[in-house]
Amino acid sequence: MANIILLGPPGAGKGTQAKRLVDERAMVQLSTGDMLREAKTSGTEMGKLVAEVMERGQLVTDEIVIGLIEEKLAAESGGGFIFDGFPRTLKQADALAALLARTGQTLDSVIEMQVDDAALVARITGRFTCGACGEVYHDVTRPTKVDGTCDVCGSHDLKRRADDNADALKTRLMEYYKKTSPLIGYYYAKGQLESVDGLAEMDAVGEAIAKILDK
Ligand code: AP5
Repeated sequence: MANIILLGPPGAGKGTQAKRLVDERAMVQLSTGDMLREAKTSGTEMGKLVAEVMERGQLVTDEIVIGLIEEKLAAESGGGFIFDGFPRTLKQADALAALLARTGQTLDSVIEMQVDDAALVARITGRFTCGACGEVYHDVTRPTKVDGTCDVCGSHDLKRRADDNADALKTRLMEYYKKTSPLIGYYYAKGQLESVDGLAEMDAVGEAIAKILDK
């Protein structure tokens, strides 16, 4: 099964599309953001440090996130991985190539989700997620059917992220352009880059990604 990266700035729709692929194709979502948010709740010194860095909108160190991905890859068998929010630096991209090679796996596509910054502010400030099942919503573009209740699992634990505010978003975007956007050239040079219009309707973005996977 294909292993892919969803690449794009905060709010591009990586998590939304990853969840669709999990439901429709039984792929495995590996989101370093989700893993780090879990680490934050562990109450350890490392967890506290990670929480502060994330709330400021900066990137967590390469060593920590590479370690998290390494653990997950060792625990999951097979493939069909969706790397969501990883890699985010050239060092992480090299580490991923080495980890996949070690387990005899390949990276099949890197899907860049193209969006513009103006749309991201509205997406990020309107986002909320279900604390129980992780379903992603938006105040305007994807509200819950019943106010305060998750459509998928019925939980009332709907949350907003601590870094989903205009100040942290500025830093997150700067980090993306400085450290992550060089990956576009890196994967283009390897012939692995594909692009989709991330500003299209969610279903249309999903169809564009499906076409790439079915090639
Ligand atoms: P992470 O959790 O990875 O966040 P991110 O990359 O900033 O991306 P987001 O989750 O904010 O957005 P998304 O693209 O998934 O959009 P979504 O689908 O939710 O990282 C958080 C932090 O963790 C980082 O800042 C860093 O500190 C740390 N971190 C994580 N990975 C790291 C790494 N590898 N190295 C170092 N540090 C790391 O959509 C957003 C909203 O828009 C939703 O409300 C959704 O409903 C809506 N929406 C989605 N698609 C559409 C559409 N087509 N049309 C209209 N609305 C849409």
